[in-house]
Amino acid sequence: MNQHLTPPPVPFIDVVSQRERLGKSIDEAVSRVLAHCQFINGPEVGELEARLAAYCGAKHVVGCASGTDALLMVLMAKGVGPGDAVLCPSFTFCATGEVVALVGATPVFVDVDATTFNMDAESFKRGIATARRLGLKPVAVIPVDLFGQSADHDAIGAVASAEGLFVLDDAAQSFGATYKGRRLGTFGLATATSFFPAKPLGCFGDGGAILTDDAEFAETLRSVRVHGQGSDKYDNVRIGLTGRLDTMQAAILIEKLTIFEDEIAARNKVADRYAQGLRDVLAVPQVVRGCTSVWAQYTIRLPKGVDRDRFAATLKAQGIPTSIYYPKSMHQQTAYRGFPVADGGLPVSESLSGDVISLPMHAYLDEATQARVIEAVRGAVRT
Ligand SMILES: Cc1ncc(COP(=O)(O)O)c(C=O)c1O
Repeated sequence: MNQHLTPPPVPFIDVVSQRERLGKSIDEAVSRVLAHCQFINGPEVGELEARLAAYCGAKHVVGCASGTDALLMVLMAKGVGPGDAVLCPSFTFCATGEVVALVGATPVFVDVDATTFNMDAESFKRGIATARRLGLKPVAVIPVDLFGQSADHDAIGAVASAEGLFVLDDAAQSFGATYKGRRLGTFGLATATSFFPAKPLGCFGDGGAILTDDAEFAETLRSVRVHGQGSDKYDNVRIGLTGRLDTMQAAILIEKLTIFEDEIAARNKVADRYAQGLRDVLAVPQVVRGCTSVWAQYTIRLPKGVDRDRFAATLKAQGIPTSIYYPKSMHQQTAYRGFPVADGGLPVSESLSGDVISLPMHAYLDEATQARVIEAVRGAVRT
């Protein structure tokens, strides 16, 4: 047996290397929390919120329990509910549309751009018309900054303000990315992000944050975060939830933020190497000029005629994992089939769901390992 010659499996996302790199500083941060025992609303939560605000230029940051809660809390704070329509891309993680349905409003799914995978402003316009035709009141749009790259905020924002909709940016996958020189976190009324461990800035459990420049709105969000409490703790003034970020997770994130820029640079190097090694055999992801990506995913489109299952199996046999984000767009999923889609349909979302596949991507992917991935992908595309 030549088992010893089989190279080790490549991690899809390498949280272990990052953990080793941060080792002692994380241990010390956790120990500090264990020493002061303020597990809820400890000093690290406020410190992290201030650091995140300084990092992305937002005036106010409200830490919360997950990216899903971040989205949900904004809709709750704005009183979005039955009869309201919220426009969302269909090619996204389900939380984007899920929160709309959770508050009793109607998600109206719109199509995305074939190159950036982000919301198509023309389909967004058609979606608003669709919502009105159905007797719904369009109140908000949730552009998603998918796979690490910003949506076209100028185009989306212009349509939203002309139509009187507020913008809730879903930057769960893209905190740290820039759009025309500005970091995400400052577009629209509010931005939601996630610190799920696999995200570019992830904690060691669930976590999220809302970023906004509106001081009054930030106060409302803080109330929603704790059961809608008012100035008198036992006179709740609105319906809220338990949406707090744990002190422990905040302490971990403070440490992770110190290496975040360095990790983003490393992810960009990995993305450049993939592009160089693969662009002649398949469609590699494109970053819009003037913008930067944090590469939450490196998602390629397979050429026509390449069977995706076979492609994935060929790579797997060589110890190279892949993932499909997303094999079904939201409007194709069982729970969401009944919700409206923008007039003209969502052909791009549907075709992406049929041919995208994501390759291993993280800041610790060394050149030799990446060469192995590139070689395997090139081989699998040819067979
Ligand atoms: C686009 C998008 N929105 C929202 C979320 C929800 O974040 P969380 O898992 O922290 O609730 C995710 C997480 O995967 C996401 O990718």
